[in-house]
Amino acid sequence: MNIPYLDLKAVTAQHEEEIQRAVAEVVGSGWYLQGEAVKRFEQHFAEYIGTPYSIGVANGLDALTLTLKIYKTLGRIKEGAEVIVPANTFIATVLAITENGMKPVFVDVDEETLEMPAEAVEKAMNRQTGALMMVHLYGRCTYNEQVATLCQEHGILLIEDNAQAHGCKYQERKTGSLGNVGCHSFYPGKNLGALGDGGAVTTDDEELAETLRAMANYGFEKKYVARYQGRNSRLDEVQAAVLDVKLQYLDEDNRKRQDLARTYYNYIDNPLVRLPQKMDEKNNVYHIFPVFTEHRDELQTYLQKQGIQTLIHYPIPPHQQQCYATYNHLQLPVTEKLARQELSLPLNQVMTEAEARYVVSTINSFKKF
Ligand SMILES: Cc1ncc(COP(=O)(O)O)c(C=O)c1O
Repeated sequence: MNIPYLDLKAVTAQHEEEIQRAVAEVVGSGWYLQGEAVKRFEQHFAEYIGTPYSIGVANGLDALTLTLKIYKTLGRIKEGAEVIVPANTFIATVLAITENGMKPVFVDVDEETLEMPAEAVEKAMNRQTGALMMVHLYGRCTYNEQVATLCQEHGILLIEDNAQAHGCKYQERKTGSLGNVGCHSFYPGKNLGALGDGGAVTTDDEELAETLRAMANYGFEKKYVARYQGRNSRLDEVQAAVLDVKLQYLDEDNRKRQDLARTYYNYIDNPLVRLPQKMDEKNNVYHIFPVFTEHRDELQTYLQKQGIQTLIHYPIPPHQQQCYATYNHLQLPVTEKLARQELSLPLNQVMTEAEARYVVSTINSFKKF
């Protein structure tokens, strides 16, 4: 068998006719930005996430960066404020903080839950703390009532980085609607992916929503009248039309992911390979299925030889990146261990049960060299 990590051509082929029709409609309309397709998708996405507002932006990093910029502009977060962030995240979460001249305060995650423990979050809070990034990494809901209460009590903004968790739930509410604001990425490989870059911000905060519309459009409150020093960060009509088609299938796609994850949990059985702590199914949309092993590189090579492609999310944590030299001295042992041991197995909506079984049996016969 030959199992790619993710075959985007096959993902698109699932609904190719509908996608082609939606794109053709935009092409034929002669209207490519700030039109009906974006409006329609924003409305549908807001309904899906369960917030009054959804605003399309150019990508997930902009969703996070502009959100913090607006909080600063509106005086809700101070210049140079501290922002609590899980050390185990994709670098974009941190870039949004530093881009705004704020200071990331890295909190190590728990090895079992892969979340920031509430006690560690509380310790990291002080009078300089302006916001907390709650990252639903790997598609796992990391919402924690204790942390949310701490944020409320201390007037700290709770920002959800929902780039990897579209459709994930906490009880009956969707991630992206649980904090003050949800930031989303529609990078092609995401659970809800465009055919290029795209992002969105979801919120019940009207002032934030209105300011973002202006900020992402040069800062214009109306044409050629700049209230803010903004930028150009818009979701385009073609991507919105594609996303609107794919949104209809997101729950079905996530169920397929959950089925495959069940197979991995039920049948992977190798003492050398640790699976992530299992969660209630609706709390995990399995954007990534990580496993952990001291023999990560050997396992990856072995799987590759057997035709199974895997990836590593992520080999270098943000605080150890060259661009963050001032944080390189930090010791965040769990995150650093995860970076050494993590391997992402293929898991996506176009993968078959037979392929998942092949991954299982191949992993089960992996031995130390
Ligand atoms: C957790 C997380 N945050 C932010 C982003 C940034 O999104 P984008 O690639 O759309 O800028 C990504 C994905 O790339 C991500 O995985």
